[in-house]
Amino acid sequence: MAGGQEHWDDVYGARSEGALTWFEATPAVSLDLVRGHLQPGAPFIDIGAGASRLVDALLDEGFGPLAVLDLSAAALTLSRQRLGPKADDVAWIEADITTWQPDREYAVWHDRAVFHFLTGAEDRAGYARALSDALCPGGIAIIATFADDGPEMCSGLPVVRYAPEALAQELDRLLPGRFEMLDARRHMHVTPKGNRQSFQYSVFRRTDR
Ligand SMILES: C[S@@+](CC[C@H](N)C(=O)[O-])C[C@H]1O[C@@H](n2cnc3c(N)ncnc32)[C@H](O)[C@@H]1O
Repeated sequence: MAGGQEHWDDVYGARSEGALTWFEATPAVSLDLVRGHLQPGAPFIDIGAGASRLVDALLDEGFGPLAVLDLSAAALTLSRQRLGPKADDVAWIEADITTWQPDREYAVWHDRAVFHFLTGAEDRAGYARALSDALCPGGIAIIATFADDGPEMCSGLPVVRYAPEALAQELDRLLPGRFEMLDARRHMHVTPKGNRQSFQYSVFRRTDR
């Protein structure tokens, strides 16, 4: 797999959190979508969370139990240090999403800018296996990727860009008949250097039992 743990540890070691192209001081679109679908007390996981501040905001708003998964130990360390004692209220999972085997179920799965790095069919199949094992029946998957008019690369790696309809089709190909799309939004992310990156955020509900 391109962009393994060493790549991502180097990325997080080389620049401050606020200088990363995907940095958001407030992850507003993610927060809005998660708030709309996560019930108080229901388990939530942020996939490939990196050093995202989504977990900080969800903790502050009293959501939980919360889990944060990333391939990069360096990224997880940044978040844990930033949160201080509050980090003890989060489950930190260092894992590759394409091979991860969850040991519990979650009501809401959030992924901003991870699925689009999976350019190989086998990696996407592994992601789908993890999603299928981790999400409870009726659970919600929020998947944000570079949109069809977004960048072709991120962090020196190629990505697959998706229009919301194309992402829904790919999810249905991976896990046939098991998800319905509830919502899709386009969003223009502005990087710390002022470049514009077109994203799409899609929300799916697991419909099978
Ligand atoms: C572009 S960053 C986005 C980080 C975060 N979601 C955000 O919005 O700030 C991509 C993240 O995915 C993680 N990642 C890449 N491939 C992964 C994989 N196969 N399994 C788990 N995490 C992965 C990287 O370590 C990195 O933190």
